[in-house]
Amino acid sequence: MQYPRHSGLPEPDEASARHSRRVIDYISERIRKAGGSVSFSEFMQHALYAPGLGYYTAGSTKFGTAGDFVTAPEVSSIFGRVVARQCAEVLGNFDRASILEFGAGSGKLAGDVLVALEELGAIPERYRILEVSPDLCERQEQYLRTRVPHLLDRVEWLDGLPNSHAGVVLANEVLDALPVERFVRQSDGVRQQRVAVGERGFEFDDAQAPQLLRDAVHEVERSLRRALAPGYVSEISLGTAGWVAGLGDCLDRGCALLFDYGGTRQEYFAADRREGWLRCHFRHHAHNDPLVLAGIQDITAWVDFTAVAQAAVDAGFAIAGYLPQSLFLAGGGLEQEMQLLAGLSVEQQLEMSAQIKTLTLPGEMGENIKCIGLTKGAVAKPSAFGLGDRTHTL
Ligand SMILES: C[S@@+](CC[C@H](N)C(=O)[O-])C[C@H]1O[C@@H](n2cnc3c(N)ncnc32)[C@H](O)[C@@H]1O
Repeated sequence: MQYPRHSGLPEPDEASARHSRRVIDYISERIRKAGGSVSFSEFMQHALYAPGLGYYTAGSTKFGTAGDFVTAPEVSSIFGRVVARQCAEVLGNFDRASILEFGAGSGKLAGDVLVALEELGAIPERYRILEVSPDLCERQEQYLRTRVPHLLDRVEWLDGLPNSHAGVVLANEVLDALPVERFVRQSDGVRQQRVAVGERGFEFDDAQAPQLLRDAVHEVERSLRRALAPGYVSEISLGTAGWVAGLGDCLDRGCALLFDYGGTRQEYFAADRREGWLRCHFRHHAHNDPLVLAGIQDITAWVDFTAVAQAAVDAGFAIAGYLPQSLFLAGGGLEQEMQLLAGLSVEQQLEMSAQIKTLTLPGEMGENIKCIGLTKGAVAKPSAFGLGDRTHTL
């Protein structure tokens, strides 16, 4: 296969192109061994997480201006400071409690939360991080060693889910990084979009959907009370329910705050959303072709929060609330944080107010990113969910 061209996107530099070539060879070999094609979720798993090669498991910058995309903690420390206020409320229900963060990225959220919790006099017993990328674990350690050296002995990296956890669980943009299945609804059934090797790169190749995927699509249609139109293409995350169930198994008592791009099932499978919700990021260019730039671009799929809520209820959680990020921040202490702006220089105030706009404006992260709060056992509902809760829309 030639190194595939991708119109409208920046050219990767030589080292990135070489790396992508290795990832393409790795995935092509997997496809050959699988008999000519793999499911899209398997392709996404390899492209993002192949050991030492995938987008998250190899060494590219990824986050921030020098990388491919920005996340809320990377935009501004204000995000983590408001999250910390909510953590402090939950931790206040316990004598001893910890925070468990999934997919901590650069470590920025962990740093902001720990600094703010120290100011609030509410440092957790432990700050546990469960991260699938060994490269990112190393970077998180380096970052936190500089940012909060005096708190580093409280931070611990886990190899898997703990047997038990009491306190807070945090996950920002982790669910949208879980591999998804892609399907096409046809009038006579459900087809699975698989990935094969074509002459000019990877290409989609339809096959009859396996039973598990057919059942999942039928379940979506049953809950929507309508069939999806012939030709309708979308995604389903078959891994989300298991991920939430795992969380339910390990959290004895506490509250999970999960932030992600997404919406309700009705929004996710809206009749006019005929091409699904895959979004790829390369050098701050967002596009929807997951088959190019293998291993050097991020691939994400927005989250069906109705599916998350259903899995959570099945796993013994109560839904504390479901809100767009703007309302979570407004209800969670943004105003108190803004009072701190008064002590800053005019330049700093302007910079901070631009960051707040990115976090809260509807066309930016304010409306597209949602937060779902899940509680287990006797824990007071965090105050952020007091303003405009939309749980009833799920
Ligand atoms: C889009 S990044 C978000 C990083 C960070 N939370 C932030 O907001 O900047 C997704 C992160 O989730 C991690 N990840 C993906 N799947 C995971 C899983 N099943 N468990 C834990 N971490 C995971 C990735 O390695 C990466 O650190």
